[in-house]
Amino acid sequence: MVNMKIGIEYLNFYVPEYYISLDLIAEKLGTDSGKYSHGIGQEKMSMPPHSEDVVTLGANAAWPIIEKHGPDNIDSVIFCTETGIDQSKSAGIYIHRLLGLNSNCRNVEMKQACYSATAALQLACGYVARKPDRKVLVIASDISRYDLGSNAEPTQGCGAVAMLISADAKILEIDPVSGCHTEDVMDFWRPNYRKTALVDGKFSALKYLQSIGHSWQDYRANGGRAFEEFAQFCYHLPFTKMGEKAHRHLNKLNGATVDPTTIEPGFHFNRLVGNSYCASLYISLISMLENCPEDLANKSIGLFSYGSGCVGEFFSGIVQPGYQDHLDIEKHKIMLEDRQSLTYDTYLDFWHAPDPKDGETVKIDPMGKSKFRLTSIDEHKRHYESD
Ligand code: CAA
Repeated sequence: MVNMKIGIEYLNFYVPEYYISLDLIAEKLGTDSGKYSHGIGQEKMSMPPHSEDVVTLGANAAWPIIEKHGPDNIDSVIFCTETGIDQSKSAGIYIHRLLGLNSNCRNVEMKQACYSATAALQLACGYVARKPDRKVLVIASDISRYDLGSNAEPTQGCGAVAMLISADAKILEIDPVSGCHTEDVMDFWRPNYRKTALVDGKFSALKYLQSIGHSWQDYRANGGRAFEEFAQFCYHLPFTKMGEKAHRHLNKLNGATVDPTTIEPGFHFNRLVGNSYCASLYISLISMLENCPEDLANKSIGLFSYGSGCVGEFFSGIVQPGYQDHLDIEKHKIMLEDRQSLTYDTYLDFWHAPDPKDGETVKIDPMGKSKFRLTSIDEHKRHYESD
């Protein structure tokens, strides 16, 4: 194939139609709401009803891509999550069926906290370089859950992103250069026997910042672009204030002065969605592409991915001419605006997702307009249906 442009051909995101306002959480926790709106830079947290999980979120994110593109040439699905529903079977296999993908398409699930989708993206780019006629569907889908009443409660949320990676990048060509940093630390983790994450909040923010420094240095040592070349930056956003701090740190390392216009477009959606773990950086990328007033064609974008535990990666890409034609700006605007606000009691009910005791049957009433639904868990098997 001549003129290969390896990277993101299409991408889409999905959040359920329910959220809880952080003003309400502040009221219940007896906290000043300014702590959330300004202190951590968040307004709302997306919440899935019982009939939605990482499978339905991921399928909903990927469906518009399959409608547009069809299943042909997609020969791999990489499903990324830290909200796994099974220790053995990849959640991507349910999605494979729901989307009607071809049976000769492989499936695998990846995990490394909020970082795995970036590993999947890079591996997919490498695979496509070897097989330029093939495409890889990367799906990042997560539900962020912390203990009720904990300091981390206001940093929950959920969402999914699907990206079609090919040699015909219509949106973002990914540079082959990147910079990584891995370190064995306990800043955030979730043992198999827990439904909610354990976190050392302040330590996690420190490791995030240190990780961006190391990843940036490695990126530059590997021949990456100069800081001044970037028109916009996207960060993993557990909350938008973390992105602000990361950007301040990166500016300091480069002796530069912060220009808020180079990060603000990428914060817009995440402020309304909350943390979606491995989908968060890519929701920020979509937010940036859809909210930046400047035409970004041929501009360089810097991205930083962080997964506690920890792995960081700084990488970059070039926005493709005509990228606007492949975005769903209006649809995403409506999806975010048309959501319903939950009462605190309904939030608590949603929070307690079905967790059947060994072998118990749970029937789940569908809620909301999701095309894909979890309908029951029966004899240890999850059942999904679609419109
Ligand atoms: N008005 C305005 N600002 C206020 C305020 C008010 N009334 N009250 C407090 N603030 C400010 C504080 O000054 C502070 O600002 P700085 O960070 O700039 O100092 C900010 O609000 C937060 O206040 P606290 O530090 O007191 O917050 P906290 O201890 O209650 O918890 C948190 C904050 C540590 C982020 C906690 O929510 C948490 O643990 N979240 C989960 C962990 C997390 O998201 N870590 C991020 C890095 S790890 C990662 O990125 C991976 C991942 O996805 C988890």
